[in-house]
Amino acid sequence: MNVKTLVAGNWKMNKTLDESISFIEALSHIPVPQCEVLLAVPFIYLKPLQDIAPKWLTIAAQNISDKEQGAYTGEISAKMLQSISIKSTLIGHSERRQYYGETNAVIKEKLQQAFQNAVMPILCIGETLDERKNNLTEHVIENQLASVLTKADANKSLHIAYEPVWAIGTGETATKEQAEAMHHFIYNWLKENISETFAQQTKILYGGSCNTQNAEELFSMPHIHGGLVGGASLDVDSFKLLIEIGNTITNKNN
Ligand code: PGA
Repeated sequence: MNVKTLVAGNWKMNKTLDESISFIEALSHIPVPQCEVLLAVPFIYLKPLQDIAPKWLTIAAQNISDKEQGAYTGEISAKMLQSISIKSTLIGHSERRQYYGETNAVIKEKLQQAFQNAVMPILCIGETLDERKNNLTEHVIENQLASVLTKADANKSLHIAYEPVWAIGTGETATKEQAEAMHHFIYNWLKENISETFAQQTKILYGGSCNTQNAEELFSMPHIHGGLVGGASLDVDSFKLLIEIGNTITNKNN
């Protein structure tokens, strides 16, 4: 079962190297958290930050190539991440889908690359405002899951981030009831289409304007196992507070 809340930050394309190092140094001074903590950082900072990060902090990538290796200028493979001991990556973030044309077919390949190279994927899914207004939310989520995961993946592990696109970077958060309903839907889909064990072992994170004000009520919901946090992960004090919230909920659940 998912006993530990996961607080995951996503820096996106922010920070200089010096700013990144100062952030990790400031974070290193806090007591070892009871919750799990992960930071998805730009590729070029992976190695320098991994070298100075405390053991409890997972440094993750924000993307990987759908290809194994070869003539794909500018791409970074899952195998390259493995070779520098990076053990997790975001896949299919809505900004990748929206601005870089990533389709479910490409995301499926990326997932397989991650699985084959022991890189734990955080698969990002979520509906747009138009889709929600047209009552297509469940249909879209089901399609995003069904096009990339099959029963053959039952022995793999991944996390899922449910991030309604209309809530990302907009300051508008899904209510805890709206988020819980979708997390429950995702849990049931995994249970019915992959396996019950798989569903129980998969953490489902909420993302979309998650911050120090709303994290506690969101993370307290039964099918919300933590958050993928963009804007509020850029400031170290706010990230520390999110970790404290993650600790509180982890302690409550155990
Ligand atoms: P946000 O971003 O917290 O700034 O809304 C979340 C995300 O895109 O992962």
